[in-house]
Amino acid sequence: MDRIVPGRWHRTRGAFLIIYIIITSLLLWTNISCKSEKGKADESSLAFVDFDKSNTELLLRYYFGAYLSDRDEDAFEGGYVRRIDGKYFVDRNKIRRSPLLSRLITDGYLEDGALDWDEFSAFIRETYYQRRNPYPDLNAVYEGLTFHPGDSSWFHVNVRGVMTTALRRVYVRKAALKAALGGYLANGRRLLYPVGTTFIGEHWVDSSRIETTVMSKRPDGFWDFFIYGSEGQPAGETIAPPKKLKAPIQCFGCHTGGKLFEPEKSFPGFAKDGPHGPRALYVDDRLRNKEVAAYFDEHRKRSDMILGIYNTLYVSEMLERRRNGDLSKEDETLLNNLGL
Ligand code: HEC
Repeated sequence: MDRIVPGRWHRTRGAFLIIYIIITSLLLWTNISCKSEKGKADESSLAFVDFDKSNTELLLRYYFGAYLSDRDEDAFEGGYVRRIDGKYFVDRNKIRRSPLLSRLITDGYLEDGALDWDEFSAFIRETYYQRRNPYPDLNAVYEGLTFHPGDSSWFHVNVRGVMTTALRRVYVRKAALKAALGGYLANGRRLLYPVGTTFIGEHWVDSSRIETTVMSKRPDGFWDFFIYGSEGQPAGETIAPPKKLKAPIQCFGCHTGGKLFEPEKSFPGFAKDGPHGPRALYVDDRLRNKEVAAYFDEHRKRSDMILGIYNTLYVSEMLERRRNGDLSKEDETLLNNLGL
């Protein structure tokens, strides 16, 4: 019978122990060194976001969202952008993998280790339309949305406002207004439009349409801004007086700010002329409904970056139809649910 000799056993156990110690310390060492390598790489992969603006986070969410939201990725959750001690950084390791965002690196925008606002807006101008891939021309917009002027399933209103002295004719699908109205109470008294909603804003001068602005709601809840010129071609900026506006940078600034604009601010009253001429909503006086205007407070609340008061006007129109005994059952239910 084999018997374990105590001396040999001790020697074997000792050898095992030494091998065990060597292996675990080897494992530990490689792990630590890997971690510190990674830590170093992480830090050096960050570029400081130097926008010098109070709404830096909103800007980062909006613009990075333009490149990521269709892939259902979030700039912050995905680690493309990081917030450390109240400062913002872009992570080169992450953006390297995105075909267009990687141009921040390859086109040299991050060379000095920081990204300032001028650099970032230049990058946006270069790549935004390419990434958002809007309809290639106005005809395609019409076809894609099965829209044509005069289509009664679209609501429209004529306005002279702050964007331009040209007359603006703004269109939105009635179904989108009904969706916003239907969700109003459930959404905490906010008018939120469904993803994919499109607003079409035409600029008219001397009975010709000189250009068309478009806003389209993205899956991440923000809106894209596009411009089409008089021939229906995509354009980087508007031409209507008094001031050219660049898409999307200037559009986003105004549409997300808190400033109140005429003629919406004075509605249901009439606005005074602005520095470049009249400010007016061209609507039937019967739609200047005080109660409805106060109920939604639509322009001031601007729950969804939309500045016009389309729901206020549409509901006022429905109330008018109800008065005339000309309201569909569906619209009656909508009004009743709103308590109007
Ligand atoms: C000076 C502020 C300002 C700027 C800049 C601006 N907008 Fe507007 N926008 C408004 C206001 C106010 C309205 C509502 C009244 C109107 O239609 O004129 C509006 C309305 C719109 C609408 C209809 C939906 C809505 O929000 O009521 C579209 C579409 C639109 N703008 C697109 C654009 C585009 C595209 C740009 C950039 C090229 C742009 N806007 C720049 C203030 C601005």
